Amino acid sequence: MEKRIPLIAANWKMHKTVGESVAFIEELQREVGAVTDREVVIAPPFTALAAVRRVMTAPGYRLASQNCHQEAKGAFTGEVSGGMLKDVGCEYVIVGHSERRHVFGETNETIRLKVAAAFACGLVPILCVGEVLAERESNRTFKVVDEQVQSAVLGLTPQQARELVIAYEPVWAIGTGKTATPDQAQEVHAFIRERYAALCDKTVANLTRILYGGSVKPDNVDSLMAQPDVDGLLVGGASLEVGSFKRIIRFV
Ligand code: G3P
Repeated sequence: MEKRIPLIAANWKMHKTVGESVAFIEELQREVGAVTDREVVIAPPFTALAAVRRVMTAPGYRLASQNCHQEAKGAFTGEVSGGMLKDVGCEYVIVGHSERRHVFGETNETIRLKVAAAFACGLVPILCVGEVLAERESNRTFKVVDEQVQSAVLGLTPQQARELVIAYEPVWAIGTGKTATPDQAQEVHAFIRERYAALCDKTVANLTRILYGGSVKPDNVDSLMAQPDVDGLLVGGASLEVGSFKRIIRFV
């Protein structure tokens, strides 16, 4: 069976100026060098995308945006389309991050449209799903995650379903230091893969990468990545420093 290539992604959110972003990439590439058996994806703020693209020269490094609009063009002040992101060299786009859902009110339907719009302009979406603490505590994790996945994949072609990257980010673990245990992550990842097999087919589901995100740190990366259905990580805070992110990229 084709092996799933691990993907380690950095979501810098609203941190790092253009200068800080460029300096980070130059230092990371100096220290880590070419990456051949995994993908390293960097999602800087919009303002730094073009400058980061210019210095992102080592093999294995990919550029991502943290969001995109669901329309290709139009009177949407302040928004950026997938085509514009492709234009500056993005290959991936994070869609449906919990902050887009819970701070900016994006619905499953909006996120479905964004997934379709990303694929339409040649970007690979990294679809974020995950439950809030109250949903976990009331045993609704699987229901919530299932609805988020089902809604987003409606209408995808088999090839798109194969390329889609899914990131399970329990909202209660994001920025809190309360990382999901490896067993908790594995349980939800296995559930997502099983549901994905039912929605698409088993071959596609076995090839789709499912990332974990939520307080990933150098001291928990190896135990998370040791889980059979954890194919990579979506890292926030620990991706802001070269030292910690370098250790995470070099998981064993
Ligand atoms: O998208 C990744 C982010 O939400 C996780 O943040 O700081 O918990 O690693 P953090």
